[in-house]
Amino acid sequence: MNIQSVDQHAHSFMLSWEDGTQQELPFVWLRDNDPSELHPDTKERTFDLASVPLDIQPRSYSIEANALKMRWPERNNDSIYTSEWLNEHRLGRPAEDPAKLEQQSWFPSDMQTMYRFDAKDSENKKGLLKVLTAMKRYGLVLIDNLQDDPQAGERFGDLIGFKRESNFGVIFDVISKPDPNNLAYTSIALPLHTDLPNQELVPGFQFLHCYKNNTIGGASVLADGLAIVEEFKRDFPEHFALLSELDVPFRFHDETCDIRRKRPIIDIDADGNLRNFTFNGHIADVACLPADKIYDFYAAYHTLMKRIRSDDYSIRYTLQPGEMVIFDNRRVMHGRDSFDPTAGDRHLRGYYIDHNEVDSRLRVLAR
Ligand code: OGA
Ligand code: ZN
Repeated sequence: MNIQSVDQHAHSFMLSWEDGTQQELPFVWLRDNDPSELHPDTKERTFDLASVPLDIQPRSYSIEANALKMRWPERNNDSIYTSEWLNEHRLGRPAEDPAKLEQQSWFPSDMQTMYRFDAKDSENKKGLLKVLTAMKRYGLVLIDNLQDDPQAGERFGDLIGFKRESNFGVIFDVISKPDPNNLAYTSIALPLHTDLPNQELVPGFQFLHCYKNNTIGGASVLADGLAIVEEFKRDFPEHFALLSELDVPFRFHDETCDIRRKRPIIDIDADGNLRNFTFNGHIADVACLPADKIYDFYAAYHTLMKRIRSDDYSIRYTLQPGEMVIFDNRRVMHGRDSFDPTAGDRHLRGYYIDHNEVDSRLRVLAR
């Protein structure tokens, strides 16, 4: 778009665009974001804001070649702000972000078949971008046709970004084993939950690669926490408000660790959108809430739990070897049916990749 004119005011320019819109450009903001003071290689800011007064004024300015060209008092070089840059960075309007994709809540009828992607088709840039886009939108995808190899799932994750280590390791083997330190490592049913709400930062996306599954039982259960929370808010606004305010303690401890964190089960951002949904009955710590809150808390928590247990939200799917389910662990709940560990082998291999890693890959792929 073309710049029509720029008028100087006390603390800012008022820029008029050819489409009639106007844009305020505060001087201190322009100075702080001077393109000529970014390191040429790293693009990081080398300018020190503290080196100029807050009420800094330009020495001179002009519009040349559809760009704002200026001289600041303490510099002898031009500072040039292109029309593209100015248009992209308007006050009160966040810059374009290819990783900012609207989430779409889903119900079982929308997920008769999960969003399914072939591993081979997803290794190239275009294919991977499709997978990541669906991951962000629905919080749930299925990758199939992975090689018959225990490492095939983790190799797929390498295409996306760094894996997030936890006390269960970088890769955790979900098998029924003696002396388990986690209910996942038994054969009992796991009701719907999200993983590791006891951590300082709850892991972003969870990957569960099915390496073997020829036992009886052990189907995966998945439900969209976003859909659950939306309906919970509509039907029980007071319960919703309480669970978005109260810090609830979570704790995991074994021989080697004791990891605790308090957080609201329903975490809402400043715009009222769901930021995180963290629900895990197994590692909910003893809630020593104030006595005048405890009954209200249990009323809300119990109501939410009954909702989660209803069939209105969950899908059931038996993972086949070579398949990997990926879900947003701060949104989509997962669980499994019990299985018979003597009837065959069930071996899933899991890992986490945080949201930032996924977003970064998405932005790079979208370039
Ligand atoms: C887990 C888990 C589900 C399964 O490992 O976090 O919930 O299907 N596993 O075994
Ligand atoms: Zn789990």
